[in-house]
Formats: sequence, C-alpha cells, structure tokens
Amino acid sequence: MQRVTEPELMEDPEQSEAYAAADFAEAHSRIVETFGQCFPGEEVTGPVLDLGCGPGDIGFRFAARYPGCSVTGVDGSRAMIRLANARRAREPLTADRVHFIEGLLPGTAIPAGPFAVIISNSLLHHLHEPRVLWETVLHHASPGTKIYVVDLFRPATQADAEKLVHRYASGEPEVLCRDFYNSLCAAFEPAEVEAQLAAAGLAGLSVDVISDRHLAVHGVLGG
Ligand SMILES: C[S@@+](CC[C@H](N)C(=O)[O-])C[C@H]1O[C@@H](n2cnc3c(N)ncnc32)[C@H](O)[C@@H]1O
Repeated sequence: MQRVTEPELMEDPEQSEAYAAADFAEAHSRIVETFGQCFPGEEVTGPVLDLGCGPGDIGFRFAARYPGCSVTGVDGSRAMIRLANARRAREPLTADRVHFIEGLLPGTAIPAGPFAVIISNSLLHHLHEPRVLWETVLHHASPGTKIYVVDLFRPATQADAEKLVHRYASGEPEVLCRDFYNSLCAAFEPAEVEAQLAAAGLAGLSVDVISDRHLAVHGVLGG
C-alpha cells in the first residue's frame, strides 16, 4: 500500500497521556536488550541522544541498564516533554542522568556531542521527510558513535495493518488503536529505509527486520 503520513508531533494531551500510560515495558526493554545484542560486550559510557523520545521510557531504561551513560531526549511535543519531566520525579536512581529538551527536528539546539550512542524508536514514521532523521544522526554523530534506530515497517495492505492492530492492541484505548493503525500506514518499507540511508551517506548501517512489524537500523559510524 502507499504510505499515508500522519501528523509529526503527538501534541494532543489525550493522545500523549494514553501513550505514556500504555504498557510498553516488554517492547521497550526488548529494545534495550537488542541494542546490547547488536553491540555485544561493549559497555556504554558517555552521552546518549534519544531522538523523538516521547515520554522518555526508553531513556530511563537505557540509563538503568548502562550506569555510565547520560541520556538526552529530544521531542517536539510539549505534552510529551512535560510527561517525560514528570517521570523524572519517579525515577530517583536515573533522573540525574536523564534530561529532556523540547525541540522540533530539524534545527533544534542539541548540546554538542560527541554522542557515544544515538537511539530513536518510532520517530522515523512520523517524519514527513525521513531524511530529517538521518541528517540529524549525521550531524550529531562522530566516528565510533553507535546508531540504533527502531521503527515500524509498513505492511503490504490495509487489511494486514488492521490484523496487526487486532493482534497487538485489542483491548487498548481507542486512541492508541487509531494511532497504531495510522503509524503502520505511515511507516516505511525496509527497502525504502535502505534507500534513505544510501541517499544520506549512511549505507554502512544495516537494516534488519526484527519482528512482524518492526525493523532496526544499526551500526557504528565510520571514521
Ligand atoms: C511514537 S512516539 C515515540 C516516542 C518514544 N521514542 C517511544 O518509543 O516511546 C514519536 C515521537 O516523535 C515525536 N516527533 C515526531 N516528529 C518530530 C519532530 N519533527 N521533531 C521532534 N519530535 C518529533 C512525537 O512528538 C512523538 O513524541
């Protein structure tokens, strides 16, 4: 099916609160775990950048798993950044190493790196111009920066998208089901992501399909 874009920012308070309240524990801890499998035996120390951080769940999990790192999360949605900052009060063990910036990509001011790691989950499909993500990665990465980007990929048909919503979100609030369906329709196919990487000069990164609905882009920026 053709890609159907959705609004970039998740600014509606009802939408962002439903997203923050959803149980992503398994999915997000799997992201931290699969990051570790992609870069085996390597402890992460130093600054980590989380692009499109939303309410910050992955950043807190990352900081808990890697006590030598500090995480900066960036998101253009004021509602999401509010929720992320509110969460800091509930995360006493990691809060001093996790910070958030409200800012629209591209162009928002992000502290200078070098970043040891750049992560991003489920931002790419929101972007009307996907090169915004890859140019931001290039701008803030240095040789040796580990890149780990996870997103949905677009199913072949609308019926396949509906089946995925039914399989993974039945019983969730209506707003989450609607967002999930729209996100599947807005996502990119793996071959499209490979073409984006080639166009951005990031062909050294690998694209793997990691589930029936997710892909991961990973690798280390060369010198
Ligand atoms: C589906 S959420 C994912 C949040 C988080 N990464 C997670 O996995 O829980 C996508 C986030 O990207 C943000 N976003 C979308 N387009 C953006 C842009 N151009 N600049 C900054 N943030 C953006 C949205 O506001 C939203 O919070």
